[in-house]
Amino acid sequence: MTTIRWISALAAGSALLLAGCGSGSSDVPQAADLAPATKLTPAQQIERGRYLVRAADCAACHTAPNGAPFAGGVELASPFGKFYGTNITPDKDHGIGKWSADDFYKALHDGVAPDKHLYPAMPYTSYRGLSRTDTDAMYAYLMQLKPMAVQNREPELGFPYNQRFAMAGWNLLFRKDALPDASKGESPAWIRGRYLTNALGHCAECHTPRGKFGQMDGGRPLTGSALARVGAPDISPAGLAARGWTAADLQTFFSTGIAPQGSAYGEMFPVVHLSSRYLNAADVGAMSTYLLGDKPPVPQPLKPANADAGAMATGRQHYLAVCAGCHGREGEGKPHVAVAMLGNSTVRNADPRNLIVSMLDGIERQDFPGLESMQDMPGFATRMNDAEVAALANYLRASYGGQPADVTADSVKVLRETPSH
Ligand code: HEC
Ligand code: HEC
Ligand code: HEC
Repeated sequence: MTTIRWISALAAGSALLLAGCGSGSSDVPQAADLAPATKLTPAQQIERGRYLVRAADCAACHTAPNGAPFAGGVELASPFGKFYGTNITPDKDHGIGKWSADDFYKALHDGVAPDKHLYPAMPYTSYRGLSRTDTDAMYAYLMQLKPMAVQNREPELGFPYNQRFAMAGWNLLFRKDALPDASKGESPAWIRGRYLTNALGHCAECHTPRGKFGQMDGGRPLTGSALARVGAPDISPAGLAARGWTAADLQTFFSTGIAPQGSAYGEMFPVVHLSSRYLNAADVGAMSTYLLGDKPPVPQPLKPANADAGAMATGRQHYLAVCAGCHGREGEGKPHVAVAMLGNSTVRNADPRNLIVSMLDGIERQDFPGLESMQDMPGFATRMNDAEVAALANYLRASYGGQPADVTADSVKVLRETPSH
């Protein structure tokens, strides 16, 4: 389930609106949408729209599990209440059947629907970078879908967060025309990758930390952000290189969900499953080029960290007793059973929260592109106490991740008690 963190800004936004400050914004030309020079036939435009709707992962929030495509109803949790993805099929009463292409562009680009301001649970803060040619293609694709008479659900928010007008103030301050870059480059692949990552893929919505008004922190693009219990890791060039990522491994990860550094899980799994695996090779390459930059940093080799031998022996006992059956005695992993722990990017992450939460909660069975599927990973929350989880996390960090053995039982306890949204 997607978790939303910008909303504490609403109260502040309304105050600022009343104070009348903020700066206006103007459109920036986009050169990276790769719009063909010649006019597309209607059928070609629809096909292009389908590709773009996938690249933008609209289904993640607008197609409910077991629901009709794009008929809405997806529940999006936030600490302030619930949002629901809406019906964006061409149904005239419940969907966007009466909308013009202009209305559609305004919703994606400005966060403004014909009858209301949208909440940034709809990531228009990123889609603002989309070109008009591309939103027109998306519109053409969505408008030829089967109309579904599925009623929308209003968000369930308490005061003051239910005041939609406050978004106008928030928008004045925080709706930016372009997101800042985490990497450097100027090649055509980098420029295309920037469009795929920042505008279509809206990767920054999860991977960029938030400021105190819930806005994306422009000073630290893609350096990682906590989403309730789990964290979206640092995917800036330095962050990726520190965990051993190369452009080739990133491409494998986005296309298949599994790389030598581990598998996509949690909130990243739907990103691969519904979106990045449908990108063509040139676009997957471009996204990887953008993330690492035109001059990628050298991936860091894994260096075992110093740690107390007694504590390591205890951690290893736990590992052999509960994990090694699937992840291998030396953390080497087992084909079609489980990924390697040795050099795994979750284990190499300086922030231990995803490692700890994976152990506590487990990971549901996921089907990866192609024929790959692994079994589910059980959760150990009821079988291991805080000290045991900490000892095991420290063993993995020091032996297989090159990280200090600094996880305490208290930090496990805090995560155990943090709600999942
Ligand atoms: C992270 C979740 C998320 C993603 C991804 C997302 N949306 Fe939305 N969208 C929402 C939510 C939530 C709303 C309702 C917002 C509100 O109530 O203010 C919404 C509202 C809309 C609306 C307004 C509908 C109405 O009836 O007012 C349109 C149009 C829309 N989305 C289109 C899209 C398209 C097209 C894409 C892909 C390019 C997309 N959305 C991707 C969450 C998302
Ligand atoms: C029944 C087999 C099984 C057992 C037992 C098991 N795991 Fe896993 N584990 C998996 C599978 C399968 C995945 C990949 C899940 C996916 O992405 O679909 C995984 C993923 C992980 C991940 C996330 C990293 C990644 O790249 O996906 C971590 C961390 C992890 N396991 C740690 C552990 C630890 C620590 C233990 C022992 C407490 C353990 N696992 C026990 C099967 C297992
Ligand atoms: C809904 C939130 C969300 C969105 C959107 C999202 N991510 Fe993630 N991402 C995560 C989380 C959580 C993880 C940690 C779990 C994992 O490693 O699979 C992650 C992991 C990753 C990893 C693996 C990092 C590592 O070292 O293990 C990469 C690379 C990545 N994301 C890139 C992207 C890109 C590129 C996009 C946009 C196309 C994107 N993400 C969009 C939440 C998100």
